[in-house]
Amino acid sequence: MGASALTAGDSAAADLSRGQYLVEALAACDNCHTPRGPNGYDLSARFSGGSQTFAGKDYVARGSNISPDKETGVGDWGDDELSAAIVAGVGRDGQLAPAMPSDSYRALTNADRNAMIAFLRASPPVKAQPAPPQRHGSWSPHPAPGAEATFDEAALSDKIKRGLYVASIARCLACHSAEVDDAPDHVNGLGAGGKIFRTPAGVAVASNITTHPGKGVGAWSDDEIKRAVTQGLSRKGEALKPPMSTLAKAHFAKMSPDDLDALVAYLRTLPAKE
Ligand code: HEC
Ligand code: HEC
Repeated sequence: MGASALTAGDSAAADLSRGQYLVEALAACDNCHTPRGPNGYDLSARFSGGSQTFAGKDYVARGSNISPDKETGVGDWGDDELSAAIVAGVGRDGQLAPAMPSDSYRALTNADRNAMIAFLRASPPVKAQPAPPQRHGSWSPHPAPGAEATFDEAALSDKIKRGLYVASIARCLACHSAEVDDAPDHVNGLGAGGKIFRTPAGVAVASNITTHPGKGVGAWSDDEIKRAVTQGLSRKGEALKPPMSTLAKAHFAKMSPDDLDALVAYLRTLPAKE
């Protein structure tokens, strides 16, 4: 069947499944925007606001209600408004707190951004009003090098660029780069690790995922890297700590084989850092 034989319905369904893939396997929007119960995400209240509160020097914010409820969610937001929030970190009342990782989503192609929005719009509206954010500062963007702007479709057929795209949207680089003044230092610390995460399960330090043979993953096999990403297991096969283990099992486990291959190929280009 040629592309011209596709009906509008087929292409809408393709958008929805691509949107679902991006949201679930890569961007992990649920991680901050869906409440958690004892057994993981409470999908009956999907996208109605997250359980964690994020606090920085100049802000306190919870993941907002991004379900299509018109009063308490984003049901009456236009596509342009949703795009601005997702890729530029701009909400209806100005700049969003940097806990919303728009820097990592800047690279989204127009088609992927639209597919994501279509998927959010197709989810059931849920009424819930998380506590409003408090913000006192302004924040400069810190996208990963090469992922500062919208990708075009052609870039996604280049394996290394596709890997960078996946690494950006899945926030690998935002979490795994060394930090200076609370912001990732992508110039000197790309993939070098060191950022500290405090979760109810304890403290975890982001690992070095550069090609350094001893400190990074330079000596790991492709399968070992893929297993860490999709199952949350260390090289020795031991369970990694949250947030890595949670993201791996709930989200990255759904990554397509092509995206995983591209991701590993891209990680193999990261200059070794101590
Ligand atoms: C690491 C946590 C995190 C992830 C992952 C995340 N967000 Fe957010 N998001 C937030 C926080 C926190 C806010 C509130 C920021 C504020 O109000 O200053 C927010 C705000 C928003 C807003 C603005 C809503 C409003 O009412 O102002 C939208 C839209 C949004 N996020 C969509 C998304 C989408 C779509 C994804 C996945 C592609 C996503 N977010 C992933 C943390 C996250
Ligand atoms: C929210 C932050 C966060 C995100 C997003 C994230 N990681 Fe991690 N990752 C961590 C932390 C923290 C650890 C350390 C876990 C531990 O000590 O058990 C880790 C561990 C790892 C490890 C194990 C390394 C070792 O030496 O044992 C690998 C490999 C890894 N991450 C790769 C990735 C890749 C690739 C991505 C993107 C697909 C990614 N991570 C996304 C925080 C994150």
